[in-house]
Amino acid sequence: MSKELRTVSGMRPTGPLHLGHYFGVLKNWVELQYTEEAYFFVADWHALTSDYADPSKIRTNIREMVKDWVGAGLDPEKCVIFRQSEVKEHAELSLLLSMFTPVSWLERNPTYKEQQQQISNKDLGNAGFLCYPVLMAADILMYRPHGVPVGEDQLPHMEMTREIARRFNYLYGELLPEPKAMLTPAAKCPGLDGRKMSKSYNNGIFLSDRMADIQEKVRGMFTDQARLRKSDPGNPDVCNLFPYHVLLSSPEEQAEIRKGCTGATLGCVDCKKIFLKNLETFLTPLQERRSVLDANPARVDEILAHGNERARAFAGQTMALVREKMGL
Ligand code: TRP
Repeated sequence: MSKELRTVSGMRPTGPLHLGHYFGVLKNWVELQYTEEAYFFVADWHALTSDYADPSKIRTNIREMVKDWVGAGLDPEKCVIFRQSEVKEHAELSLLLSMFTPVSWLERNPTYKEQQQQISNKDLGNAGFLCYPVLMAADILMYRPHGVPVGEDQLPHMEMTREIARRFNYLYGELLPEPKAMLTPAAKCPGLDGRKMSKSYNNGIFLSDRMADIQEKVRGMFTDQARLRKSDPGNPDVCNLFPYHVLLSSPEEQAEIRKGCTGATLGCVDCKKIFLKNLETFLTPLQERRSVLDANPARVDEILAHGNERARAFAGQTMALVREKMGL
């Protein structure tokens, strides 16, 4: 690869990906693979930090996620797709970084405090969960990237990654560049019920959903709740569906929908039909690419094996430099 800039990002294999994942992060990844040397990995160790007691779904989730990625347009020839736990260097770097990362940084991490408070059905008192950001810093700094495409929710982790890099460079000499977060310009992607689209709210449209199921879901989807009949003028700016037109419909179509909604000539049922048509156009090529992998499961293993090897080659180089700097 002779691309000048390098980038890396990962996702935890927690379940099927939905439109929020696509428009929030994945779309960005797909674009980056053409312009940058890009490493994308399944963060299976990170999944264990909170789900260590029930790892039964991890294997399936990993494979499904790779299928979602390739469906979305990641091309294993254009970027490196790998599995974190197959590149053991990540564990070594995480251990080394933990030597000089103050426990107080980890304890005051806002994500850590928030999840400790909010998640009550799992134990999060384990050391692995506290050290989540150190492992994440290792994942990132390993590839010495200039930037990391992530969602906004990851900003505290990115800040800590930069602090860890700075501390490494201060203690042992310049080696690890401080990477910046590369946010996707805010794509509004509400769930079916108007809350944030999330697997735990059961309000998502998944990339692998069949159109028949999507039709059912969209039928019950909230629109402008103040609009009771077609003859009432609606307001696209408070409608839960309109943000999807912004993502999936042409500017001309959006203007027409806005006019029809506010002028009470286009009803929500017909508006949903337009959405379904455009969503189908969008999802069809994704699902076609995905079905190639469904029909050939060995290809998923091949993609990962190839990516693991390429990631290891790069990680090996970084680790040689890190060990040298740290006197090992
Ligand atoms: N914390 C990320 C998430 O929950 C996953 C992740 C782990 C990650 N390591 C990373 C993302 C490194 C970017 C870079 O989605």
